[in-house]
Amino acid sequence: MLVLGLETSCDETAAALVEDGRRVLSDVVSTQVDIHRRWGGVVPELASRNHIVQVMPVVHEALTRAQKTLDDVDLIAVTSGPGLIGALLVGLQVAKGLSLATGKPFVGANHLEGHLLAIRLLEDAPEPPFLGLVVSGGHTSLYEVKEFGHYRLVGSTRDDAAGEAYDKTARILGLPYPGGLPIDQLAQKGNPEAIRFPRALPGDNFDVSFSGLKTAVLQHTKKHGVPEGQALADLCASFQEAVADVLSKKLVAAARRLGHKQLVLCGGVAANSRLRALCLQRAEERGLRMFLPPVRLCTDNGAMIAVAGYEAWRRGLRGDFRLAADPAWRM
Ligand code: KG4
Ligand code: ZN
Repeated sequence: MLVLGLETSCDETAAALVEDGRRVLSDVVSTQVDIHRRWGGVVPELASRNHIVQVMPVVHEALTRAQKTLDDVDLIAVTSGPGLIGALLVGLQVAKGLSLATGKPFVGANHLEGHLLAIRLLEDAPEPPFLGLVVSGGHTSLYEVKEFGHYRLVGSTRDDAAGEAYDKTARILGLPYPGGLPIDQLAQKGNPEAIRFPRALPGDNFDVSFSGLKTAVLQHTKKHGVPEGQALADLCASFQEAVADVLSKKLVAAARRLGHKQLVLCGGVAANSRLRALCLQRAEERGLRMFLPPVRLCTDNGAMIAVAGYEAWRRGLRGDFRLAADPAWRM
């Protein structure tokens, strides 16, 4: 089954062709970060307008790279939530339009399910049950995946998402948006023990909190000024260590308590070098198997939506022309 996956929920316009929910034939991502950077974050109206401009060229490019035409496509999968309403509507209307024009069926996919199921694109992919931690710009949520389509939320952030903490910290430090990659790159040259930032591990559960960490960075810069050179790298490394420490601890603790042997890390922040290394290390120490998607499948892409759409289709879900975008779709 050849699935065209469409993703326009935030600031990437993406399309991919995936066979049988496992094999990527093409994966095209057009990012808008240069447009939003000057505003220090995503401007929803600008995002929607640029999706309109980019979406058909991106679909076309995905078909061309895979050497396929719309005739070859069996199913159109599109992110219908959660995300920015105007941005979601662009992808959804395109999916409906393509479906109407070609007679091919379409299905709405959940963006978070997409992140969780991106791991299916690994050759050596885990079969459920597994524990999956989605760490992105908008979410930090821990799910028990009992089977495809059955997700139980067992923990989440009480305030900022991990990616949000990166982006806000980058802003405090005068680094470009989105802040994840620049902080990660600087951190690799810094000393993670330079500053002892707080680790919030609220209570005996699997929730996390990052607003205190962000405030601690702010207070540090108020007291000592915004650092430069090696001191900046040290601050980034110390911040990154705190984030990776908290997330990897919670993930491994949850696996132990809930009796899971297989762990998945996904979402944009799963691209983080220290988080990946620490999760691998802590999982290995406890005899758990850690699955990490390659970096390009961590950040938003169309391939993950093709997988989520394929699985939704197999469960019997069908899109109809009344399907509405749901900006707050809880999985
Ligand atoms: O999953 P994603 O592409 O979009 C959402 O669904 O939100 O995640 C974007 C987030 C941003 O906050 C960005 O700063 C963060 O992922 N990110 C990273 C890294 N690369 C991207 N965070 C930490 N380290 C990275 N290397
Ligand atoms: Zn995402």
